Amino acid sequence: MATKIDVGVLGATGAVGQRFVQLLDGHPLFRVAELAASDRSAGKPYREACTWRLPGQPPRDVAELTVGTCDAPFRSRLLFSGLDSSVAGEVEDLLAARGHAVVSNARNHRLDPDVPLLIPEVNPRHLDALDVQRRRTGGGYIVTNPNCGVVGLALALAPLQAAFGLEAVAVVTLQALSGAGYPGVASLDAVDNVIPYIGGGEEEKLELEPRRILGRFADGRFELADFAVSASVHRVAVTDGHTLAVFVRTRQRADPDEAVRALQAFRGEPQERRLPSAPERPLHVLFEPDRPQPRLDREREGGMAVSVGRVRADGLFGLKLEALVHNTIRGAAGAAILNAELLHARGLLP
Ligand SMILES: NC(=O)c1ccc[n+]([C@@H]2O[C@H](COP(=O)([O-])OP(=O)(O)OC[C@H]3O[C@@H](n4cnc5c(N)ncnc54)[C@H](OP(=O)(O)O)[C@@H]3O)[C@@H](O)[C@H]2O)c1
Repeated sequence: MATKIDVGVLGATGAVGQRFVQLLDGHPLFRVAELAASDRSAGKPYREACTWRLPGQPPRDVAELTVGTCDAPFRSRLLFSGLDSSVAGEVEDLLAARGHAVVSNARNHRLDPDVPLLIPEVNPRHLDALDVQRRRTGGGYIVTNPNCGVVGLALALAPLQAAFGLEAVAVVTLQALSGAGYPGVASLDAVDNVIPYIGGGEEEKLELEPRRILGRFADGRFELADFAVSASVHRVAVTDGHTLAVFVRTRQRADPDEAVRALQAFRGEPQERRLPSAPERPLHVLFEPDRPQPRLDREREGGMAVSVGRVRADGLFGLKLEALVHNTIRGAAGAAILNAELLHARGLLP
């Protein structure tokens, strides 16, 4: 068996960091060799530094690793970042400048002019931006995955864009509590409640990131796709899984049956290459009138597939549907791991 590639996890103690550790356990290509977090955690074994909040225990070999700080030297060339955005920007820049491949969840560099904002099924061509970025850094680089809700939205829109063109999109989200990290929203605010606001520019991300992802990288620069997005976000008392009600005006008329066929047929480079974390089908179309639901559908294909349901005609926009994405798997750690698998398959890891 080929030797696995040692990787580091930055922000390993957080909600996304724990998902990295969980999803990388037994990974066929990567092995967690280094962990880092804040000064609060540094110097402690992971089992002490981290309050493990996923089912079961942290993997035994990782539990014994000592957590380091993010500015210390790393042996691993590939670093996954689940860092808080208050520090991710500077730390990721530093590590890319030191020659590492930083595969990040944080929002800080998503819209930088030479940083791919990648969904491997949708815009693998955006990896061309790495040529530009690596000239700037001298070899290392940053690749980002989108905001958790945006992953579900952009995956659902990609086949509709290809088949019919997109003119305008409206999206209303019902977002899970785990999206706010731990401890996240206070329980007295969350239970029996819906909060129509999520900080950190959540609506702006939903309005901008899909246009970047579904746009082009040409002549050394990114061009936003030419459609408008309007978003309205809500935090709801669900543990994992963001639901999105999506309204779409296409450029050519899209009959719901044709839209369903386009969604069902959608595949990308991860499926062609059979990447280890790639779902067989990135989009699962459900036909029951009351699906998708977070509790029933978020774990589809290990949390890496987006469920789409209620694809129907809309009197105002033309088409509407519901989409569900597991926010800490396909929307965060799983997305970054799939990005790294594509980088590996393309021979782009340093
Ligand atoms: N949760 C989601 O569904 C989701 C989805 C997509 C993207 N994201 C993004 O992923 C990132 C992590 O989110 P999260 O929910 O996992 O947050 P979290 O649970 O609050 O974890 C934050 C991590 O960052 C570390 N950290 C905080 N301040 C630090 C500092 N000054 N220096 C070094 N490390 C520091 C923490 O270490 P200590 O434990 O030592 O404090 C912890 O490991 C954020 O940028 C977030 O926007 C989250």
